[in-house]
Amino acid sequence: MPMPDRMQLRWFGHSAFELTDGKSTLLIDPFITGNPVCPVKADELNPQYILVTHFHFDHVGDALPIAQRTGATIITTYEGGEDLAAKGVKVHSMALGGKAPFAFGMVRTTMAFHGSGFAGGHAAGFVIHMNGKRIYHAGDTCLFSDMKLLNGVIEEPGIDVALLPIGDNYTMGPEDAAIATQWIGPKVVIPMHYGTVPILTGTPEAFAQRVEATGSSRVVVLKPGEAYEV
Ligand code: NI
Ligand code: MN
Repeated sequence: MPMPDRMQLRWFGHSAFELTDGKSTLLIDPFITGNPVCPVKADELNPQYILVTHFHFDHVGDALPIAQRTGATIITTYEGGEDLAAKGVKVHSMALGGKAPFAFGMVRTTMAFHGSGFAGGHAAGFVIHMNGKRIYHAGDTCLFSDMKLLNGVIEEPGIDVALLPIGDNYTMGPEDAAIATQWIGPKVVIPMHYGTVPILTGTPEAFAQRVEATGSSRVVVLKPGEAYEV
């Protein structure tokens, strides 16, 4: 349980996170089963909400079985969301640029340049407003200059914690992710989507070195299973 007024952000490796304020628990991109670095099992997790950035297996992961067991609401983009809804789970579908209120706060769906994993769909990221904080999960994406909009333009006063992919090959590598950090200007940046499998070669050391040389954001590197208090 986090301290009062604090939230706990736990990383399960890859792009999978759990965010809780002690009242609401959110999972993001719950790639648990088959994730070689994940220290927990899917049936240990009890979220009320599951956010899915896109429908590649390493992001939608265990969303369906966890939602079936817990009754959690899946928040995702429309095409893949409708497919999950047809399988009998609760789904709140969104599209890029849309915001919606939830019991825990608010979600903005942001653009991401990447395959959606679903015909006709679009990959996304999310800004989660919870407990007075703003957390940006970029999903899988390349660097794009509209990330600058999150730096106090469409998200005033800005992002508290950014979760950015650094693994390269399928997403930004450390160099581009360091530029993204400068543009987004979060107080804290946590690297993700690296080290899970050998092809994801970007390292948190290379990323941190560049961020610390150029920007004012603090880099927090988690080990799978570790939590950061937001
Ligand atoms: Ni992907
Ligand atoms: Mn991925």
